[in-house]
Amino acid sequence: MSSAEMVNPGDPRAAGHTLAASGGFVRSGKVRDLFEVGDRLLLVASDRLSAFDVVLPTPIPDKGRVLTGVSRFWFDQTTDIIPNHLLGTDPAALPAGFTDAAGSRELKGRMMLCRRAKVLPVEVIVRGYVAGSGWKDYRRTGAICGIELPAGLRESDRLPSPIFTPSTKAEVGHDENIGFDAMVELVGGPLAERVRDVALRLYQRGAAVAEKAGILLADTKFELGTALDTGQLIVIDEILTPDSSRFWDASDYEPGRAQASFDKQFVRDWLETQPWDKTYPGPELPAEIVAGTRERYVAAFERITGAGFERYLQEDVIAR
Ligand SMILES: Nc1ncnc2c1ncn2[C@@H]1O[C@H](COP(=O)(O)OP(=O)(O)O)[C@@H](O)[C@H]1O
Ligand SMILES: [Mg+2]
Repeated sequence: MSSAEMVNPGDPRAAGHTLAASGGFVRSGKVRDLFEVGDRLLLVASDRLSAFDVVLPTPIPDKGRVLTGVSRFWFDQTTDIIPNHLLGTDPAALPAGFTDAAGSRELKGRMMLCRRAKVLPVEVIVRGYVAGSGWKDYRRTGAICGIELPAGLRESDRLPSPIFTPSTKAEVGHDENIGFDAMVELVGGPLAERVRDVALRLYQRGAAVAEKAGILLADTKFELGTALDTGQLIVIDEILTPDSSRFWDASDYEPGRAQASFDKQFVRDWLETQPWDKTYPGPELPAEIVAGTRERYVAAFERITGAGFERYLQEDVIAR
């Protein structure tokens, strides 16, 4: 999963970002730039794309807006399951002087003003299908993260029911799948059980909505934390986006082989044709690969939310 990706040494990240000069810059993740706004956190989703664990030098225009828009959609759809960190999305609501007019335009559609949380030290992963590291686990042990599964499953088969498969948050290198017992040791029994329950319900909600849109939610990663203000368990970061989930096109679904990723397959296929050893830095993407990748992210936004992306860009609303 993308959570396993490593930080590439020397990655420029926020360099050149229109907000880099704004006060309160905290740090950059692979995709998001974080700023402090009083006691709140401003998350800005950039257009950076990572593939094969490397952040590529060429951004995909509006990709960050797709991720933010899709997350906004899901946060709104899941408040009955768990509260989330989202407080606002309007650049005009930022403190005076935080950024200028150009910065506000840049923030529109890609910002989330958030409640700060103490992040749980586990990746909260739910799988509905046998794929990726789950398939590797299953082939070796007949189980995924210690959860015994029926014999004879093929790669990409749907699981009898979705499973909760936490993993560690590795600072460097790949995250490691852990059993539920190991998670109990990390966060305690009651919290581990709550997180599992919430994660399974979020997955089920997400999978049902996506399936109606012709997208299978093979697996997904949530981040949860305890809100610093109230101590309440909340869902943070991004949720049920192409970057945090494995999305498959239902019309191409065929168990017994790996499935194409709805959003990233196109760029991955092109990268495979390049003389590149998949270490930092990656190759610049040609214009047609950028355009084709953007189209696919936009299609994911439109299919999942049922809303027009152009309208989202213009009016900052997620509506037909
Ligand atoms: N509400 C929140 N409180 C504290 N940290 C958060 C919150 N929401 C997101 N984060 C953190 O912000 C970062 C988001 O940046 P991102 O580029 O997605 O990072 P990563 O490279 O780890 O995927 C992550 O480290 C995530 O844990
Ligand atoms: Mg992330």
